[in-house]
Amino acid sequence: MVPTPALIPIPAKLTPRSGSFALGATTSIAAGDDVRVPAELLRDQLRPATGLPLQVGSRTGSRIALALDPSLGGLGEEGYRLTVTADEVAIRAPKPAGIRHGSQTLRQLLPSDIYRRAPVAGASWAIPALEIEDRPGFAWRGSHLDVGRHFMPKEFVLKHLDLLALHKFNVFHWHLTEDQGWRIEIKKYPKLTAVGAFRKDSMTAPRTKDPAARKFAGKPHGGFYTQDDAREVVRYAAERGITVLPEIEMPGHAMAAIAAYPELGNTGKPIEVLTYWGITDHVLGVTDNVLRFFEDVFDEVLELFPSKFIHVGGDECPKTEWRNTPSAQERMKKEGLKNEDELQSWFIRHFDSWLAKRGRRLVGWDEILEGGLAQGATVMSWRGEEGGIAAAKAGHDVVMAPQRPTYLDHSQSELPTEPPGIGGHNSLEAVYAYRPVPKELSAEDAKHVLGAQGQIWTEYMPDPKRVEYMAWPRLVALAEVLWSPPETRNWADFEKRLATHLERLAILDVNYRGRFVPPE
Ligand code: ACM
Repeated sequence: MVPTPALIPIPAKLTPRSGSFALGATTSIAAGDDVRVPAELLRDQLRPATGLPLQVGSRTGSRIALALDPSLGGLGEEGYRLTVTADEVAIRAPKPAGIRHGSQTLRQLLPSDIYRRAPVAGASWAIPALEIEDRPGFAWRGSHLDVGRHFMPKEFVLKHLDLLALHKFNVFHWHLTEDQGWRIEIKKYPKLTAVGAFRKDSMTAPRTKDPAARKFAGKPHGGFYTQDDAREVVRYAAERGITVLPEIEMPGHAMAAIAAYPELGNTGKPIEVLTYWGITDHVLGVTDNVLRFFEDVFDEVLELFPSKFIHVGGDECPKTEWRNTPSAQERMKKEGLKNEDELQSWFIRHFDSWLAKRGRRLVGWDEILEGGLAQGATVMSWRGEEGGIAAAKAGHDVVMAPQRPTYLDHSQSELPTEPPGIGGHNSLEAVYAYRPVPKELSAEDAKHVLGAQGQIWTEYMPDPKRVEYMAWPRLVALAEVLWSPPETRNWADFEKRLATHLERLAILDVNYRGRFVPPE
């Protein structure tokens, strides 16, 4: 009997059967036009290591059969049924997303060598007979990546998307703008990237407010994605069942935009793209011209990103400049706003209704609760779970992103040999133990918790290798938290499966923690 390999995330229900199916020279992939894209993707994923043709079409004989099946509607938007007998592999699902997830499970049922990109001599491609019925616990299973602090090459973003698909994540939150860099081409305002995508230097250490103690890399840093790059990323993600959630930060964390167009700020004085990390007083002004400018930006962003949700930031916006700027104070008087928190809410509300008119929904970090939450806003709860709890109780949708344990810029242990992170540490075990629905919520309010996501802030991650070190294997643990039913999850069993899973990640050249230097 072929043993069932380690599956991650573990399926909701798995029944082993006797026997096995072997991929061979005559095996084809049977698929109708409605699942042709996932079928061709599966072919492209199985071909390199097996060296088999695996033609896609409507075929009989030895086959992997992919089909939409409305009678499985109970499995929801992303569920699937995978049946392996000696004669056939069948993946059936109510929606194409389920076919994609089932295909990822099928890859994991093969030996780890299936992830290689050239034929493996002497391999046997046997799949154990079984039946799997599977569906996710949460609809929002996300991975956030900050490309503002450090630009990450498009090739790396595409590799990250492949890894997300492998772990059944379905949201890639692309944090595209920051004080330290504007990373997305906007045709109407070319200086956003010509000026805003480049900075003179980058702080390396330590994390301090004292300018004299800061150390710098001593070289410029920059980069941005063209609109064609963004379209490529969005389509690549969509083919893998992943929605790209773009974030354009407002009204704080916008110094790169102000450096490009000083009239966006409150002082009108020129500033430079920021070279160090933290929170600054330089935030967007609240004039009509600033609103129009960002509406123009969003016009282009909406055209590039079909995501229903659009992230507008909203975090860490000091109110000092607004207190000292006549146009901001006039705005408060004119709109009847009591304080600067309400002024920020007014700003966010403007974009909430602007996006709603265009059929989109606004998401923001939990500071958007201060001064009153915009009507249609979804809250991303990062300063603990309190913001998420308050928003869910008020009837708003919530995505959980609490620093403990979903911030992957925190270090992975307290060992002296561990590379430093920001803000404490989040161990693999702590991530695995995470439960996205806080106990404080009633069953009814808990329905507003769409899911959760892992945050990768890149102040101290200058390149893809360091990002992968911080991301993996913690994102593996989070994938299972978000997908698998609680009763199937067990730390000791996860650790065992992870050992096999890391073989896959090593073949895929992922620089996960412990790959080259075992943790002590
Ligand atoms: C955040 O970490 N400022 C969202």
